[in-house]
Formats: sequence, structure tokens, C-alpha cells
Amino acid sequence: MNIAVGADHAGFGYKDRIAQLLREQGHDVLDFGTWDETPVDYPQYGFAVGEAVASGRAHRGIVVCGSSLGIAIAANKVPGIRCAPVTEPLSAELARRHNDANVLALSERLTGWEMAARLLDVFMETPFEGGRHAHRVGQLFEYGDEQRARTLAAVEAGKVTGARTPEADLRAGGR
Ligand code: RB5
Repeated sequence: MNIAVGADHAGFGYKDRIAQLLREQGHDVLDFGTWDETPVDYPQYGFAVGEAVASGRAHRGIVVCGSSLGIAIAANKVPGIRCAPVTEPLSAELARRHNDANVLALSERLTGWEMAARLLDVFMETPFEGGRHAHRVGQLFEYGDEQRARTLAAVEAGKVTGARTPEADLRAGGR
């Protein structure tokens, strides 16, 4: 796979180690930096990795910052990106199985290296389940005028309606 990676000055150490691991596993890595401790702005790296994935130049992306949060928020601004900031393996697994996450966000300041490497493995190896999850993931990218009007009406009414998952999407079992 082609994997895009990016990090700010608080995440480049893990980013470099991750890039090396991925190359050892046979992936092609597109590394957007940064490469040293000079302070930089994490949104730029989140945007770059997000666009690389959204455009199809990369199949997946890995972003790292101090907390994982800022760079994940940035990546999620790019249409088509589902970036999951995770700190433990079950979240990494569910981000793939249920949310079809295409970018993983890791924290270099809060997550130990062994855990970060494990989260990377889980993210790379877990498939998307599809079915009812595909129905829901699809809605994430339908936030146009029509959906916004529906949402504003729900806010006005104080209640969300019409969110029932169709039977066809539930047939595989699960909730
Ligand atoms: C940099 O100090 C830090 O704010 C950044 O890496 C990240 O944690 C932001 O969300």
C-alpha cells in the first residue's frame, strides 16, 4: 500500500519510526515531514496527509502530534477523510471495523512506543465490516444543504428523527 505520514515537532519521532516500520513491511511511504524539533503548525501536516489520502495518492494515512488531537481535527477537515485519534487497541480496531477510518492519529506525548506500534498494526490489519456501517459511514459525507436543513430542524424540535438504520443494512447481524 501507499501510506502518507505526517507529524509536527511533537510527533516526528514516532512518525519517523512508523515510516521505517511501514517500509520494512513493504509499503511505499509518502513522508510530508516534519523532520526535526523546530516548532511547526500541526494543521498543515494533517491537511497534507488528508489530501494525499482523499486524492487516492495514498491508500491510508498516519498522523502524529503531541496529543493526536489537533492533527486529527485538521485531517478530518479534508472531505473524504475519517481520521481516528486512538490510544488503545479496541478503538483502533473499531475505527476500522465500524468507521472505515482511513487515517490514524497517534500521540507521541501520551502513548508509549510499544502501544503506538501495536495501534499501527491493528489499524493496518483490520478490515471494514461494511453492511450497516457502510450505510452510516456514507452519511458522514452527505452533510450538504439538505442534510443541514434536516439537522437544523432536529435542533429546533429538540429531537432527531428518521435515523433508523434500514433492515437491509442490518441483515448481517449486529447493531
Ligand atoms: C504542540 O505543542 C502540540 O500542541 C501539538 O503537537 C498537538 O498536541 C496539538 O493538538
